[in-house]
Amino acid sequence: MTELSRPTHPATGVHPRRKILVTSALPYANGAIHLGHLVEYIQTDIWVRYQRLRDHSVVYVCADDTHGTPIMLRAEKEGISPETLIDRVWHEHTRDFAGFGISFDQYYSTHSPENRTLSEQIYERLKANGLIEIRRIEQMYDPAKEMFLPDRFIKGECPKCGAQDQYGDSCEACGATYGPTDLKNPRSVVSGSSPIRKESDHYFFRLSDPRCLEFLRQWAITDERLQPEASNKLKEWLGDSDADQGGLSDWDISRDAPYFGFEIPGAPGKYFYVWLDAPIGYYASLKKYCDGHGLSFEAFTAPDSDVEQYHFIGKDILYFHTLFWPAMLKFSGFRTPTNVFAHGFLTVDGAKMSKSRGTFITGQSYLDQQLNPEWLRYYFAAKLNGTMEDLDLNLSDFIARINSDLVGKYVNIASRSAGFITKRFEGRLDSSVLNDLGHPLHTAMMSAAQDMAEAYEHRDTARVVREATALMDRINTYVDSEKPWEIAKQAVQDPQLMPRLHEVCSRALRAFAQLTILLKPILPFTAQRVEQEIFGLDKPLGWADLAGPPISEIKGFSHLMTRVERDRIDALIAANRESLG
Ligand code: MSP
Ligand code: ZN
Repeated sequence: MTELSRPTHPATGVHPRRKILVTSALPYANGAIHLGHLVEYIQTDIWVRYQRLRDHSVVYVCADDTHGTPIMLRAEKEGISPETLIDRVWHEHTRDFAGFGISFDQYYSTHSPENRTLSEQIYERLKANGLIEIRRIEQMYDPAKEMFLPDRFIKGECPKCGAQDQYGDSCEACGATYGPTDLKNPRSVVSGSSPIRKESDHYFFRLSDPRCLEFLRQWAITDERLQPEASNKLKEWLGDSDADQGGLSDWDISRDAPYFGFEIPGAPGKYFYVWLDAPIGYYASLKKYCDGHGLSFEAFTAPDSDVEQYHFIGKDILYFHTLFWPAMLKFSGFRTPTNVFAHGFLTVDGAKMSKSRGTFITGQSYLDQQLNPEWLRYYFAAKLNGTMEDLDLNLSDFIARINSDLVGKYVNIASRSAGFITKRFEGRLDSSVLNDLGHPLHTAMMSAAQDMAEAYEHRDTARVVREATALMDRINTYVDSEKPWEIAKQAVQDPQLMPRLHEVCSRALRAFAQLTILLKPILPFTAQRVEQEIFGLDKPLGWADLAGPPISEIKGFSHLMTRVERDRIDALIAANRESLG
C-alpha cells in the first residue's frame, strides 16, 4: 500500500502522519533561474525537507510556466518554435534546481496534456456554474504584427510627466499608473508601428458574483489563515464588511490568437490567458505524479480531502493565489488551499538586482563559479522569517556569516574532536556517553530542538539559524573549557586520562550529530556527507534520532566545507555584469 492511501489509525481515528501537498510558484519558461527565484525555491525546499524529516508524507510539485505572449515572441526572435524553447528551458531549470538541492517530487510543464484537460474541465464547470461571461472590449492592437498587445508591449510618453519610453501600465519616472490607451505617441514594442484600438470578444470569470465575494471573504479573512500582511491586503481588496460591496472586478481569462497556450473549447481563436492555466499547472503536475506513483489524484483534490495544501509564492503574485485560484477551485468542485505563504523580494547589497551592476545573478553562474549551493541556502535561511518583508543579500555579510558560522563554528566542532577519536580510540566513540541523557549539553540540544521545530513549522528559519548558532557556541565553549588537546598531551604520560579524552570528544561529536539533524533541511548535502563519510551510517538520520543519534564510530574525517573567499564573489559579479549597449 502506498503512503498516501494508508488508512487512519483504527483506535484513534487519527492519521499517524500529516499528508501535505506543497507547491512553489511556477517560473516562466523564458528566462534563467536567478537568486531572486531561489529565495522561494530554497524557502519551500527547507520547509518540505523539514516535514519529511518529521516523517510526514509530503508531495512537492512544481513546473515551468510556459504560455503567453512573451514566450511566444521570445521563441520567434530566436527563430525556434515555442515548444523547442520551453523544452530547452525546462532542462536548464531542472539542472539549476538540482544544483541547489531543490527536492521536487515532480517538476512538470504547463504545456502538458494533463494541464489542458484540467484547464478545460475547470473552465467548463465555472461556465456551468454561471461564472463565465463573454464581453466585447476594446484593446490596443498592432496592425503590422496583427496581434493584440499586452500592456508591457506598448511604450510611449507618460501622460502625466511626459517621460519618454514608458510602459503601457505605469511610469518609472513619476510613478503614475494608467492604461495603455492613455500613453502619448504609443508604439508597439513588437513592430514599432503605432497601435490602434480594436474590439474583440473576451471571456470573463465573474468574480464580482456575490457567491465569489462571500466565499473569498470567508476563506481569506474570516478563517484567519493568511499572514497578517497578506490579510490586510485582502481586506483592502475584498472590503471587510457586508455593507461594503468590496471591489472585485471580473477577470479577463481569454486572449486572442496569435497566442501560445490552450485554445478555449468551443471558442476558436480564443486562448486561455496564461494566468488561468498556470495555477492549474500545480494540479497537472500533481496528476502526473499521482499517475506515475499509483496514487489517487482525487484523494488530494476532492473537497473532503484530508491532505493539507500549501502554496509558497512571492508577494507580487498574492492576488492570483488568494483570489483567483481559490475561487477557481471552489466553484469547479475542488478543495481549496489550506494556506498560501508569501515571501518578500530579494535585493542585493541594498538595491534591486541589476544586470549592469552584475547583481542579477543567475543560479547557473553561481554554480559555474564553483560556489557552494549550501552557502546560499544557509544565508537565505538566516534571512527568512516567515513574513512578507523583503530580504537583502549583502555580499560582505554573506562572506562573513558563512565563514564564521558554518566553517568557524559548525565544521570546527567535528574537526577538533574527530581526529582524537580516530588516532587514539581506533575510531570508536564512547558508548556510555552516547546514552547519557542527563548531561547539560544534551538537555540544551533537546530543548533548543523544540523551539527550532516550531520555528521551522512557521518558516521562521532566521530563528532556526539563531538557535543553531547559539548551540554551536555552546558546544565550542564546552570543548574550549575541557581542552581535549591538553588532555591528549598529558595522557601520553598519564594513560588514566584517556577515558576523559574519550568522553569529551564523544560528547562533542554526539552534539555535532544532533546539530546536523537540526540543520538537515538547510544543509542537505553536508548532512548526507556527515552521515555517510564521518559516521559511516547506512541510514539517513531523522528528527527522531535527536534523542539518541545511532552513531558509534568515526569512519573518516573529510573536509566538509571551505571558506568563502572575496575574490570568488567578485568573479561571480563580474560574470553576471552585462555592459549596457
Ligand atoms: N509564472 C509566474 C508564477 C505562476 S504560479 C502559478 C511567475 N513567475 S516568475 O518566474 O516571475 O516568478 C516565480 C516566483 O519567483 C514568484 O513567486 C516570484 O515572486 C518569485 N521571485 C521572482 N523574483 C524574485 C525576487 N527578486 N525575490 C524574491 N522572489 C522573487 O511569477
Ligand atoms: Zn511619468
